[in-house]
Amino acid sequence: EAAEKGGYDTYMLKEIFEQPSALTNTLIGRLNDSTGEVNLDIDLDPKSFKRISIIACGTAYYAGLVGEYMIEQLARIPVEVDVASEYRYRSPLVSEDTLAIVVSQSGETIDTLEALREAKKYGAKTLGVINAKGSSMTRELDDTLYIHAGPEIGVASTKAYTSMASAFLLLALWLGRARGTLSEQQGAELLHAARELPRLVEEALSPERVARIKEVAEKYAHSRDYLFLGRGVNAPTALEGALKLKEISYIHAEGYAAGEMKHGPIALIDANLPVVVVATESFLLEKTISNVQEVRARSGKVIALLSDGDTENAQHADDVLYVPRSHEMVSPIVNVVALQLLSYFTATALGKDVDKPRNLAKSVTVE
Ligand code: G6P
Repeated sequence: EAAEKGGYDTYMLKEIFEQPSALTNTLIGRLNDSTGEVNLDIDLDPKSFKRISIIACGTAYYAGLVGEYMIEQLARIPVEVDVASEYRYRSPLVSEDTLAIVVSQSGETIDTLEALREAKKYGAKTLGVINAKGSSMTRELDDTLYIHAGPEIGVASTKAYTSMASAFLLLALWLGRARGTLSEQQGAELLHAARELPRLVEEALSPERVARIKEVAEKYAHSRDYLFLGRGVNAPTALEGALKLKEISYIHAEGYAAGEMKHGPIALIDANLPVVVVATESFLLEKTISNVQEVRARSGKVIALLSDGDTENAQHADDVLYVPRSHEMVSPIVNVVALQLLSYFTATALGKDVDKPRNLAKSVTVE
């Protein structure tokens, strides 16, 4: 087993560090720099549907939320995202002009599989964003976009998440180019951003950054609760950050869209509440910083994820985690790495078994 962990203490840590190569496998062979297009080898006609339904569970669901943002922005198609256990029982409005995209690391999660069957029953075209080759879902889907992240053993998903979000970037580019909503220049810019991702994630995993995240994690490890905030394409980053922390450290954590904080979670803020805010470069950054000030005004402890070089906003935070600058559309993939490590080091500081967290299974094949 020690050999399988490749020198790392846990599978989870190994998989966090495998992200640059997982992303290379998801992305690179599919980007065509000379034409500015993506080659996805998907048989579906990208112009044949009017709406998209993304269906998944757990971390894959949050990757789907990132996908919703990317597809709506770049391809201007209405997208809705459902947790599979809800979708399958809510008589969804599906027809032949719907593309149902199921997202799953294992390809075996029973709720997602049943939701896929439900969508097919109403005539939807179906596409999978899947890691496990030949899994049950892939046998029932019209087509599969494999993420090629390699086997994921740690129960808390890490590299599958970033690869799934990257696969959605590819899908959004493919749809946007085919449907004429993306100019050649925008396409080229995003292709470049995609190509940079493995390097940026490698940079996000530099020893200095990892050491700093560990220090911050240990400082707050004995907190009872945690709040995670983010906006726009990074609202799902906050949700995934909170999920990761509760899964492996058992600290109660909530993820919220930052602008929604005033409608409830603000009541929780006091000097004992660490609030992680994703405040990287964005057209919404000023608004995020005003949310940070609201937390500060109530004595909350702010842990801010800031883009490298943003010394100005550091004054608003108790602790800063700097992350590499990236194109906003791909930033969830870079930013989440710091949150994975924050959870990891919190859990290990508390002596938890991160690879086998209590009550959780890698793949849930019973309802
Ligand atoms: C379980 C795992 C999660 C995972 C979810 C969906 O709950 O513990 O890490 O995100 O299932 O799994 P899937 O294989 O469908 O992506």
